[in-house]
Amino acid sequence: MLWLTEWLTTAMDLRPGMRVLDLGCGRASSSIFLRREFGVEVWAADLWFGASENFQRIRDAGVEDGVFPLHADARSLPFASDFFDAIVCVDSFYYFGTDDLYLNYLAHFVKPGGLIGIAGTGLVQEIEGSIPDHLREFWTQDLWALHSAPWLRRHLERTGIVDVDLADIMPDGWQFWLDWQRAVAPDNATEIRALEADEGRYLGYVRLIGRRRDQVRLEEYCWPDTMRSFPPQYTKKPLLRGEELGRKIVSYLVEKAARVGMSRVFVLTTRTIDWFEQWGSSRRISRACRPRSATPTTTPARAGSLPSS
Ligand SMILES: C[S@@+](CC[C@H](N)C(=O)[O-])C[C@H]1O[C@@H](n2cnc3c(N)ncnc32)[C@H](O)[C@@H]1O
Repeated sequence: MLWLTEWLTTAMDLRPGMRVLDLGCGRASSSIFLRREFGVEVWAADLWFGASENFQRIRDAGVEDGVFPLHADARSLPFASDFFDAIVCVDSFYYFGTDDLYLNYLAHFVKPGGLIGIAGTGLVQEIEGSIPDHLREFWTQDLWALHSAPWLRRHLERTGIVDVDLADIMPDGWQFWLDWQRAVAPDNATEIRALEADEGRYLGYVRLIGRRRDQVRLEEYCWPDTMRSFPPQYTKKPLLRGEELGRKIVSYLVEKAARVGMSRVFVLTTRTIDWFEQWGSSRRISRACRPRSATPTTTPARAGSLPSS
């Protein structure tokens, strides 16, 4: 929606040549607008609308030199850290951004000092308790993600990741919403009725502009990408403990005992018998030394016979 993009960007310092991510760009009209109005380079990313369709629109608008369409999920973005000067979300943030951990992820992609701008459908005031009667018919599950400007400010600011420069509502936003509904979806009687009955008490448009703080530590282990695995850190280790530490301990004991003139060593251990067999094949362990009571509890599959003395 262009009027939302315009409202948002009047409060953002966008300059030619900046790299901007238009996240949840829909049909990329906001991306085209950003390129034409500010001369920025725009990565136009969206989930429901494919890159090929958006590319045709971008080419027809004559801005393919500076608007790059992508099909992407906001929770699994294919960009380098610190790549963007600014990220904008026009009427899309509530679909993915209210997860408590999301800002920590999104902030990775904007450089320190860079801007995160959000504008979209929201609430003029939070709904405490149950849904007001006049909104009940209109309310669907996705609408729980709509919030007020103070809510959004607190949600993002308390992480310490951004300084919030601005968080406000659009004056008479509900009127714009209503006009827009009447123009593009006049048959959507439920939404139109809700807006008319509400008269801007709850429904409206919110805007927030944050700036990524310098020196903020971001955590990769809680990124929202559900398919994310940690970077490889494999170091080969022995499969059985007996191959390493246990062997060293028993060798140490036996050698120490021999040095002080002991002829027999009794080792009380939780090790199974096959391990002693393995070890004893070179050291000669006396069968007589094995407690009789150990036999029934030894796993047969693992119980090798001890070398006879
Ligand atoms: C209401 S539309 C707004 C589109 C456009 N920004 C505009 O203002 O016309 C919401 C957009 O959010 C996008 N969206 C929702 N979830 C998303 C996600 N996980 N990743 C990327 N985009 C997402 C949808 O694909 C959709 O185009």
